[in-house]
Amino acid sequence: MQSDHKNRPIGIFDSGIGGLTVLKEIARILPDENTIYLGDTARVPYGIRSPETVIRYSFENTKFLSQKDIKILVIACNTASSVSLNAIRSRISIPVVGVIEPGAKAAALATRTKKVGVIGTEATIKSSAYAKAIKALDGGIDVYGVACPLFVPLVEEGWTEGRIAQLVAEEYLAGLKNRDIDTVVLGCTHYPLLKKVIGDVMGARVQLIDSAIEISIEIKGILEKLGMKRDAGDTTFREFYVTDSPERFLKVGERFLGHPIEHIEKIIVGT
Ligand code: DGL
Repeated sequence: MQSDHKNRPIGIFDSGIGGLTVLKEIARILPDENTIYLGDTARVPYGIRSPETVIRYSFENTKFLSQKDIKILVIACNTASSVSLNAIRSRISIPVVGVIEPGAKAAALATRTKKVGVIGTEATIKSSAYAKAIKALDGGIDVYGVACPLFVPLVEEGWTEGRIAQLVAEEYLAGLKNRDIDTVVLGCTHYPLLKKVIGDVMGARVQLIDSAIEISIEIKGILEKLGMKRDAGDTTFREFYVTDSPERFLKVGERFLGHPIEHIEKIIVGT
């Protein structure tokens, strides 16, 4: 494999800011990779939309990133992964990874009680994508899905701890308690930022599966297998594109990523 191929960037898209939790883990686990991130901030949230609409948006995002000569496409958005992964895979020739399969795999491996909770947006839970993927690995696992729509604005507002986050988490997660669940999948880009509160409410014996970490491990494995992992040494580039004006993305995104965002551009997709 020529080094040119290895230098091609990883393309990542999300409905907006949330996928930065995935980018953060990719950058941690694969620090030498170049990345291009597209946040569809003009059309966020995807989690309340129909599968048809999310698939259309996902195709448009994919088209934009494909033009950037990416070597692998990462669907960081759980909602988009739930409904559009197979359709995108059938359209493009490079590897496509979504967050569902890696998260499901980790949950199926982790559970001892064979009872797994999945939390996500309304669209993700309605699609049953995690439940199907977990059951495909082990049909004996019971999966309980709960939509937690208020978690997304809470995180974007920076209210990841304190009384309000605690109350909202208690309300949503009440249905997952007393069911002998020992594993909960954080099935939404924003939820890793609520790990502490969710962990407190569920209790210490419940393991939380972070799909952002699991997908990054999966990407590393794919790149290694294909001989496409970039060599260490040269400096990396990180490009960001958004479909609405960048101000809010820059402000809120820094909290998600842990450092300032540079090289950002507003673009239009779907024309
Ligand atoms: N990125 C979305 C997800 O992971 C959450 C935000 C949205 O609803 O678009 O499902």
